[in-house]
Amino acid sequence: MTDLNKKTVFVSPREMQKQQEFINLIKTVLAAKYPSSAPKAFVHTYGCQGNVADSERIKGMLSQMGYVFTEDKHEADFVLFNTCAIREHAEDRVFGNVGALKPVKNEKKDMIIALCGCMMQQEHVSERIRKSYPYVNLVFGTFATHRFPELLYSVLRNKKRVFDVREDGPIIAEGMPVYRDSDFKAWLPIMYGCNNFCSYCIVPYVRGRERSRTPESVIAEAKEIIAFGAKEITLLGQNVNSYGKNSDFGVNFPKLLKMINELDGDFKIRFMTSHPKDCTKELLDTMAQCKKVARHLHLPFQSGNNRVLREMNRGYTREQYLELINYAKAVMPDISITSDIIVGFPGETKEEFEDTLSLIREVKFTSLFTFIFSAREGTKAQKMEDPVPYSEKSKWFSELLKVQEGIACERSRNMLGKTYTVFVEGTTKENDGRLTGRTDGSINIDFPGDESLIGTYVNVKVTNALNWILSGEICE
Ligand code: 5AD
Ligand code: SF4
Repeated sequence: MTDLNKKTVFVSPREMQKQQEFINLIKTVLAAKYPSSAPKAFVHTYGCQGNVADSERIKGMLSQMGYVFTEDKHEADFVLFNTCAIREHAEDRVFGNVGALKPVKNEKKDMIIALCGCMMQQEHVSERIRKSYPYVNLVFGTFATHRFPELLYSVLRNKKRVFDVREDGPIIAEGMPVYRDSDFKAWLPIMYGCNNFCSYCIVPYVRGRERSRTPESVIAEAKEIIAFGAKEITLLGQNVNSYGKNSDFGVNFPKLLKMINELDGDFKIRFMTSHPKDCTKELLDTMAQCKKVARHLHLPFQSGNNRVLREMNRGYTREQYLELINYAKAVMPDISITSDIIVGFPGETKEEFEDTLSLIREVKFTSLFTFIFSAREGTKAQKMEDPVPYSEKSKWFSELLKVQEGIACERSRNMLGKTYTVFVEGTTKENDGRLTGRTDGSINIDFPGDESLIGTYVNVKVTNALNWILSGEICE
């Protein structure tokens, strides 16, 4: 039986120092190997922000080793895919892209190819890589991120393949360097792993038991982020609401939010993901009181039907979920709520799916992340009877999107003519002289503007609402 209450083990400073020494050794090796120009690394991240945050640490180490980053894998000396195992589709993409690296490596024989992240923590995957992808040099799982320098050194020195996919238990490694992808918004992991074992989900198997960083470490990183000028900090965890459980530092998630809210500086705090089972009125009251916390709550409900929720092992009912939402709306009338939904859980009937539709109509979410159930090896749901064909689930899925589209259009119409403070995140994909920004409630608005505004807050009046796509213009 999995022990959910195991104490967190912090990787010792001595071990971290040893890894730093491997970084220095690699730097010397690379300087000799690439005397005229710095070696190039290509890092691609699949999946959630937790993976993005891990990649930023790996990139921190690569940067200290002397690598510079490239977006073109053909010119890279080191290629890393940080993988995601959440759904079959995500895994298929990784296998496809690893397959496509074979001819690239044939052109550039001393390229090092590495794979890490959640997929690698599954035995059947690492074995498949071992057998069918011999040109992959290094494979390491989610527990080995801090050992990356030692592993890479071993590849460089011994010219042999290295696999490190052991499960280390509830460990936390502090002190890795971070190479942040953005100057103006930052990811801040506050906890790792998950103890919930929702019956469909692979995460507890590949990320291990829930464990929290100390409030001191979190606050120190938040201060560092504020000091370099970032305007948005997103606190990350599979279930941030259970921050501090099984720890003896006596700080729960609402308390941590307050501590960060009290730090000096002009910044916003976001967080994800909250589990409804552990979302308390204390948290919602805290959000309402804290000026720096964005008025946005991502609260995945997965299904609107109580039988399905029970089978999913979610630990709450539809009624309890709605009570939380109503409380959130009462204490924060301008709150924007988003959610995750799974369509076609094994055994779900059309009538039960209709309960999901009615919940969507009732709550009127800002946006939804919707998924068709994907069977994951080793989970309880994989073994459940699943009589509804995929084609039928797809029809339900389309129906759901249509209902949500109607809700989003109505919300967009209500926003017409109103002015919102928007955080400018970048240029639009079309690169047509327009910028894209997000409101406090995480709603995107496009508008004409100069690139120098990226990373700042501007007021934008909504002038056009095409379906759910909003555009506007800057106003004073
Ligand atoms: N199939 C489909 N969707 C899944 N999710 C997690 N596991 C699965 C699965 N096996 C979805 C859930 C979760 C989001 C991150 O991914 O909705 O909240
Ligand atoms: Fe998966 Fe449930 Fe944990 Fe989220 S809370 S990571 S859905 S097991």
